[in-house]
Amino acid sequence: MCGIIGRVGDGNALEPLLTGLENLEYRGYDSAGVAVQNGSGINVEKRSGKVEELKDSIGEPLSGKVGIGHTRWSTHGPPTDENAHPHTDESEDVAVVHNGIIENYVELRERLAENGYEFTSDTDTEVIPHLIQYYLDEGLDSELAFRRAIDELEGSYAVTAMVSGEHVLYAARQGSPLVVGMEDGEYFLASDVPAFLEYTDSVIYLEDGDVVIVDEDGVEFTDLDGDPIVREPETVEWDPEQAGKGEYDHFMLKEINEQPVSLAQAIEGRIDPINGRIALSDFEPGSFADVDSVQFVACGTSYHAALYGSLTLNQAGVQSTALLANEYSVSAPPIDDDTLVVAVTQSGETADTLNALRRANAEGAHTLTVTNVVGSTAAREADDALFIRAGPEIGVAATKTFSSQAVMLTLLAQRITDDLRGEPPTDLESLLSALDAMPGAIDNLLDDSDAAEIARRYRDSESYFFIGRGLGYPVALEGALKFKEITYEHAEGFASGELKHGPLALVTPDTPVFAIFTGQEDEKTLKNAEEAQTRGAPVIAVCPEDHPAVAIADDHLEIPETDPDLAGLHANVQLQLVSYYAADLLDRPIDKPRNLAKSVTVE
Ligand code: F6R
Repeated sequence: MCGIIGRVGDGNALEPLLTGLENLEYRGYDSAGVAVQNGSGINVEKRSGKVEELKDSIGEPLSGKVGIGHTRWSTHGPPTDENAHPHTDESEDVAVVHNGIIENYVELRERLAENGYEFTSDTDTEVIPHLIQYYLDEGLDSELAFRRAIDELEGSYAVTAMVSGEHVLYAARQGSPLVVGMEDGEYFLASDVPAFLEYTDSVIYLEDGDVVIVDEDGVEFTDLDGDPIVREPETVEWDPEQAGKGEYDHFMLKEINEQPVSLAQAIEGRIDPINGRIALSDFEPGSFADVDSVQFVACGTSYHAALYGSLTLNQAGVQSTALLANEYSVSAPPIDDDTLVVAVTQSGETADTLNALRRANAEGAHTLTVTNVVGSTAAREADDALFIRAGPEIGVAATKTFSSQAVMLTLLAQRITDDLRGEPPTDLESLLSALDAMPGAIDNLLDDSDAAEIARRYRDSESYFFIGRGLGYPVALEGALKFKEITYEHAEGFASGELKHGPLALVTPDTPVFAIFTGQEDEKTLKNAEEAQTRGAPVIAVCPEDHPAVAIADDHLEIPETDPDLAGLHANVQLQLVSYYAADLLDRPIDKPRNLAKSVTVE
């Protein structure tokens, strides 16, 4: 997730561009840049760091009526000055900002390089200005050159471009958001409305396949072939203070609702389209062929994702353990150079996890981090990095990053098993089709969830218990962590079979039990839930509609029928919503729970 802005109108574009970038920083904040069209050409200022640092570094103020800007959350290449947007061709005749992932950038880059176009960054985006320049060099006019370039892109994108000497912006959308703002001869293009809400509340949302041409006289909507399209303007009713959260009251709820997009982005381009296997193109074939055991290290929510990955590998017959990173220094299992140590960390800066990673590096393990932050310490210090591409997470409670971590670890587990055995471990066809359906299925689940009603029904309970088996177990732990973290109520997660070995003593009519059914020995989980129900506890079954648990449970949170490797992640979204609504009823400061920090950089 990155933020893009463009502006055309009278007066200098610089100020609205910088204001727009500040308002979009919640979409990315590792680098920022602007390009402004002055009388003689395009001026670009860009650098790693926050918008504030960009503002301070603009010495000679840029001036021009048309400009574009970008605030970055890295997916390809670390946050350096070179990788910051806008990107240009060599002669700075074309400048481009982009949000999304260009899947075929390697092929495009090779082809353009063979034709003499020189690249200066590691980004996928840089192919776009060179491609536009290529078509300009072929003699096409700017509009046609833009359309041809866009036609060649595969993946997801919101792109805005300008060509030297023209007071025009060209933009296109496919899978990443883009919206036009309009006010008395001043026009904006942005990833999200807050970018320009101080200037106008009159907007038109682009749809996939739309191409837009904006100049001082207005906005023209077309399809990729240039055929006109009619899109109606609408008025946005948010106040600027609400801006980054859009229609949501809290970032946490926004981030829960972003999961269809963040998951699609995590998966994008990582499944080999030729033979349908999980290629995980981030790694060369055979990269994991010598691994004899896998140790996952992580803390908190990331530990639950790590456990999810470790159990997936164990179920596939690969030796693996998930360890709390803060325990690793006193009790790490033996490591040798065939051990793969995977540090799972959203921020890439958690001190406990970095210590564990450093120990593994020192002892000669092969190390890998699964993280959300491209330039993070973990990404720099591990031998390899796998990025979850969830975009920035502002709410302290991890939500979308947990599901993206768990999905990435599921893909990694498949890939490790494939490398070790020469064949994927599970029923791959079922997993691939469940992965494909997952963003849409979670979208539906979010629309139809009864979580708010369940939260209301069980408010003021004494304790909240969460049980699950197999891959439902880490989800039970995560459900309880989320609940206690933002409601401040007592909550515990258990392996469902453990309930009878002690925790059952706590079960009363005042302790609702959320039972997670993932299709792995569900009949046993149902028996465990009934054991709690017999002691008077209400049971809330998290399972598909026609599951036997529905008839027995007191309440039901529905998840779709899906592959057991992914069912728990659907259940987790329901539990995130229950926690959110329970905390909202208690009027807790949901995005910033007391005593907690987003990134814990002390041991
Ligand atoms: C809980 C939560 C924390 C983090 C933990 C590790 O919602 O967010 O438990 O998961 O502090 O942080 P990262 O993943 O940044 O290493």
